[in-house]
Amino acid sequence: MDNPVSQLFDKWAQDYHADGMEIEHWPTVKQAIELLPPVQGNYLEIGMGNGYAIQYFAETGFDNCLYYGLDISSEMVLKVEAGLKHLENIHLVHADFLEWQPPENTQFDLIFSMEVFYYFSDIQAGMDKAASMINPGGLLMILVNYYMGNPESHDWPKELGVPMQLWSEEQYREGFVKTGLQNIRQQHLKHPDHPDEPGTLVTWARK
Ligand SMILES: C[S@@+](CC[C@H](N)C(=O)[O-])C[C@H]1O[C@@H](n2cnc3c(N)ncnc32)[C@H](O)[C@@H]1O
Repeated sequence: MDNPVSQLFDKWAQDYHADGMEIEHWPTVKQAIELLPPVQGNYLEIGMGNGYAIQYFAETGFDNCLYYGLDISSEMVLKVEAGLKHLENIHLVHADFLEWQPPENTQFDLIFSMEVFYYFSDIQAGMDKAASMINPGGLLMILVNYYMGNPESHDWPKELGVPMQLWSEEQYREGFVKTGLQNIRQQHLKHPDHPDEPGTLVTWARK
């Protein structure tokens, strides 16, 4: 895969950035996970980065579940593969989510994604696709720090040299409405080190 996003994250997988992302993201990801009811079934993470969240779910989840982790960066996938050899029920996939098809007859009970959807050329297409892969009763949870209500993030495309889609809170909520998912909830999760900032925007819903 040869696009600016996979190139950026291939580089980040090999230097200090991937582990730095985990340190920066975990405090709000942890709060988001605490919002979820206990989920039993198949898990898919879109854009897993260095794999800290899929590792958490796989280590604290149920033995008979499948855990799929997908990333557009081949180097991130290799990094996760190397780190999670001790876990048997993990399937790692190198793919652009917008082009990926899960194995036949595989649906998910929780689809989770942190800091990924704004890299998609078409956020709505990503949401629709994720929603279509969820079992009845399953959940979709999307977290972002790059959004209209977080002005500190607005320079990221320039700083990182990759295109990003800037959506507002309302657009994320409306996007979920368009997917047909039910019981849509949205909130801001404050990072303890940056309490004055608007925090991570989390939107989630049930099928
Ligand atoms: C900012 S990082 C976040 C990683 C991780 N979720 C975290 O919380 O640290 C974004 C990740 O999404 C991946 N990504 C971006 N666009 C993607 C796409 N179209 N399909 C799959 N993965 C993608 C990148 O390669 C990168 O690993």
